[in-house]
Amino acid sequence: MKNIGDPIARVDGRLKVTGAALYSAEIPLLKTAYAVLVTSTIASGRITVLDEDRARSIAGVIAVFSYKNAPRLSRPKMMPAGQSIPILQSPDIYYGGQVIAVVLAESLESATHAASLVTVSYSTKVAAIDMNAHLASAFVPAKRQTGEDPSSKRGDTTAGLAQADIKLDLLYTTPVEHHNPMEPHATTAVWEGDQLTVYDATQAVTNSAHSLAQILGVPVANVRVISRFLGGGFGCKGMSWPHVAIAAMTAREIKRPVKLVLTRPQMFTSNGHRPTTRQSIHIGANRDGKLMAINHHVDNHTSALDNFTEASGSPTEFLYACNNVEILHRLVRLNTGTPTFTRAPGFASGSFGLESAMDEMACKLDIDPVEFRLRNFAAHDQADNLPWSSNSLRECYAAAAARFGWEKRKATTGSQRDGRWLIGYGMASATYPAHFQAASANATIFADGKVLVQCGTQDLGTGTYTVMSQTAASVLGVEVEQVRFELGDTRLPPAPGSGGSTTAASAGSAVFNTVQKLRDRLIQLAATDTSSPLHGIDEKLIVIRDGRLSSTGVPGRSETLIKLLSRQSQPSVSVTSSTGPGPEQGYPTAQTPGNVPGEKPKSHHSYKIFGAHFCEVRVDPELGEVKVTRMVSAFAGGRILNARTARSQLQGGMIWGIGMALMEETRIDTQRGFFSNANLADYLLPVNADIPSIEALLVEEVDPYVNPIGSKGLGEIGIVGVAAAVANAVYNATGKRIRDLPITVDKII
Ligand code: MOS
Repeated sequence: MKNIGDPIARVDGRLKVTGAALYSAEIPLLKTAYAVLVTSTIASGRITVLDEDRARSIAGVIAVFSYKNAPRLSRPKMMPAGQSIPILQSPDIYYGGQVIAVVLAESLESATHAASLVTVSYSTKVAAIDMNAHLASAFVPAKRQTGEDPSSKRGDTTAGLAQADIKLDLLYTTPVEHHNPMEPHATTAVWEGDQLTVYDATQAVTNSAHSLAQILGVPVANVRVISRFLGGGFGCKGMSWPHVAIAAMTAREIKRPVKLVLTRPQMFTSNGHRPTTRQSIHIGANRDGKLMAINHHVDNHTSALDNFTEASGSPTEFLYACNNVEILHRLVRLNTGTPTFTRAPGFASGSFGLESAMDEMACKLDIDPVEFRLRNFAAHDQADNLPWSSNSLRECYAAAAARFGWEKRKATTGSQRDGRWLIGYGMASATYPAHFQAASANATIFADGKVLVQCGTQDLGTGTYTVMSQTAASVLGVEVEQVRFELGDTRLPPAPGSGGSTTAASAGSAVFNTVQKLRDRLIQLAATDTSSPLHGIDEKLIVIRDGRLSSTGVPGRSETLIKLLSRQSQPSVSVTSSTGPGPEQGYPTAQTPGNVPGEKPKSHHSYKIFGAHFCEVRVDPELGEVKVTRMVSAFAGGRILNARTARSQLQGGMIWGIGMALMEETRIDTQRGFFSNANLADYLLPVNADIPSIEALLVEEVDPYVNPIGSKGLGEIGIVGVAAAVANAVYNATGKRIRDLPITVDKII
C-alpha cells in the first residue's frame, strides 16, 4: 500500500511511452480535415488584397476562410480567450503573425502547400515595436488582470529612503520569453448536430469551453472540451487562443472534423509570451542591515488591444519585512500579440529584480546575503497585514545552504579560482502565492473493488493522474492499481484551470475530501450491515487497509471491501463533493463578513509558498562563458503528494531559471516588427550538457490552514529567483553586476 507523498512512478507512464496516450492532435476521427493557418507578414496596417485562388486550386483543398468569407464570430473576450483581436473578421492587422486565413484540406501536406500560396498585399502603418522607444506612452492599467489594483503602497518610501544609510537606484530588464512546451497547441473539433466536442491541448477545459461558446455564440452546455494528455503548457495553454475557435468554426462550416496544430514558429505568435520588463528598483537600508524602503516600478509591454500586466512587483510586496514599499505597474502598447501567463507570471521576472537588488545591498553593506535576508525576514505578510498560514523560508535557507556548502563562500569578488575559471556563489529567495479554488470530485467503488475517481482537472504532464490516484488509494486504503482517475473533460465534476499552481491544492483537496467521504460511507455500511463481521462496532474503530476493513479495537473481525460490496443491493457506492475557499475554513469569499464586494476579500491568513536557491557558477573571464556548475534549492510546500513528481516539477523550474539567466530571449526585429528567432534552433534553451547536478530539497512543513489537503502547489516556484541566484553568483565570481537578462558572453567580457 502506498501513502500520500511516496515517490511512486507515474501511473500514466506506460501509456505515454507506448504511444497509447492520445494527445489532442492524435484523436482518430473519420474524415478529419487538416487546417493550416496563414499569418500576417506585417505588424501593423490593413490587408488590401487577399487572393486565395491559387490555394483553392490545389488538389485536396476543401475550403479557405478569411475575413472575406468567414462566418460572423463574436470578438473574443480576453480571459477566457488569450487575446481579444477579432478572429478572421476584418482586414486590420495589429501584430506580426496575426492569423489572417485558414486553409482546410484532405491532408496536412496539401493544406500546408496551399496556405503558402495565399497571396496578400497590405497597406502598412508604422508599428510600435521597441518598448524603450515608447516609454513616454506608458500608462497605469485600471486593474491588474488578476483583478487587483495595479499598484500598492504602504508607508512612505520617500521618507524611508531619506533615512536610509545606503540607497541604491537600480534598473533591471528582462526580455520576451516563450513557453515552448514540447507538445504544440493542437485542437481537434467535431460537431454532432448542434453539439460541439473539442479535443484541445488546454490547461483549462472550462476556459476553452466558455471561450468557444462566447465566440461562436452557442450555449456553453453544447460545448464539451476534452484534454486528457498534455505535453506541457507553462501558461501558454491557460487561455484559449484563436486557433481553437477557428478549428470549431471551420468544422461547423465544412461539416467534418477539423484538426489544427500550430507549427513551432506559430507557437511564438499565436499563444502569448512573457513580456519585456523594465524594473526600476530604489532600495534603502540601514548599516545594521534593516530594509528602510523599496520602490519597485515596473513597465511591461502589452498588445495594441489588450492589457496584460506582468506583475513583477508582486514578490516585493510581501517577501521581506519593510515598512515603506511602493509598487507601480505601467504598460506600454506595442504591435505584438497579447502577452500571457508564463511560468510564475510576475514572480519569475520580478524576483530577478528584487533578489538581485537584495544581493547588491547585502554586498554594499558587507553582510552575507543569507544573513541580510534573515535580518529582514517577514514575520507576517505586511502587504495584507495577515499572519502566514505557514512560512518555512528560514528552514529552506538553512537546508539548502548546508547541503550546498555556502559557508565556503568568499565575500571578495573574483577571489575563488580553478585554473582559468573564476568561481562564484550566489543565492536568492523564492516565493509564490499558494492558490486554492473551488473544485469537486466524484468517487465510486464497484463490486469488484475497483475505484473510479473523477475530477475535471488537467494533467500538464506534471503528474496529476499520479498524485490523485495515489491520494485516493491512500485515503481509501486500497492499492494504487485499483484506482482509475479521470480528468480533462468538461463533463466531469468541475475543477479550476491548471495554472498558478492550483491543481494539487484545489483538485487535490476535492479528491482528498471526496474519497474520505466514500471511506466513511463504506465503514458505515460495514458497521450497520448485520451480515458483516464488523456489525455493531464503533465506526471510529474501523479502518480500511489493503482493501480490507478491520477493527482496531476488536481483533479478528474483518472482511474485504469486495465481500462487503457483494452483499449490497446496489452494484456500486458513489460520493460526489465539492470543496473550496470559504469563511468557515478561514478562506476569503466576497460574502465573508467585513468584506466589501469588488474589494480584495479578507482572510485569516496569507497563503504563500517559499524556497531558496544556492548556485555555483564558473566564468571564463576571457571567453565570457558562464556555466552553472552546481545548484541546490529547498522548498517547503506543505504536504507533498508525491516526492518524485514534486522534485521533477521543481527541477524543471530550476532548469528553466538557468535558461532564463543565461540563454532565453525572443529577439524582436524592430524594423519588421517580428520575433526573429521564432524557432527552437535560434531560441536558445538549456540542454542536458548545460545543466549540472541540481538538487531540489523538500523541507517538511505542515500547514493546517492552506486548504483541506494541506498542500501548496509547486508548479511555479521552481523558477522564481533562479535568474537572480545565477546573476549574483556571476557577480561573486567576476565583480560584474549584470542587470539585463540573459547574461550572455558580450555582457561578461
Ligand atoms: Mo502557469 S504560468 O499559471 O501555467
